Amino acid sequence: MLAPPPPRYFAHRGGGTLAPENTLAGIRLAARLGYRAVEFDVMLSGSGTPVLIHDETLERTTNGSGAVATTDDAALFALDAGGEPPPRFAQAVRLCGEFGLLANVEVKPASGFERQTAQRVAAEVRADWLASPLLFSSFSRTALQVLQAELPDLPRAWLLAALPDDWRAEARRLGVVALHLDLALVTPALVRECAGLGLAVRAYTLQTPALADYLFGIGVAGVFVDPLDRFLPQALADRSAIG
Ligand code: G3P
Ligand code: MG
Repeated sequence: MLAPPPPRYFAHRGGGTLAPENTLAGIRLAARLGYRAVEFDVMLSGSGTPVLIHDETLERTTNGSGAVATTDDAALFALDAGGEPPPRFAQAVRLCGEFGLLANVEVKPASGFERQTAQRVAAEVRADWLASPLLFSSFSRTALQVLQAELPDLPRAWLLAALPDDWRAEARRLGVVALHLDLALVTPALVRECAGLGLAVRAYTLQTPALADYLFGIGVAGVFVDPLDRFLPQALADRSAIG
């Protein structure tokens, strides 16, 4: 039997802007709308628990205040992140597993916690192996290196908002299978060069299907999209490609 094609449309920050970002409600919404893959951001609480949140501070997405990295679990899980507490990483992965969603786990350490964040995420994955297919990504080279050592068989992508001079050598050293690039960096020449190096390219963050069509036309493998409802026919086509 042929393996199904990998998902092309990734729901950005769980549900993105349609549901509160980085929540279980967002992941449920993505599944309900037909998406096969979700991206979410993972950081450590002050107690060292991996949780879904984007910012290093609580103000924008919860009713709390202060730094995520200094808020312990008792305080963090008492907060409202949009009708629910900030989800634990393990809960989100299990939910993705229930829906058959590919989870793109963006390891997003608070500054200074790069190593610990990747280590804790890896430890939770090892404790819950079969939960869901996983694709890791991170802007942090340290986090990617730790994941490579701790979970060598699970795929990793390097997130880049700018292309450093040493990106080719670093991508090889980090053993990543893909670059997840800011949309502004993506050119046909770069996508071709990446293909020659065995690297898939995915682009973040798209708001229009026309742009997705263009990117797929130049060989981009996947796109992070938001808001989700602008891409409903595309998400369904992605699903029907499973066969
Ligand atoms: O993983 C793609 C994208 O989520 C990276 O940017 O800031 O939305 O986490 P950000
Ligand atoms: Mg992200």
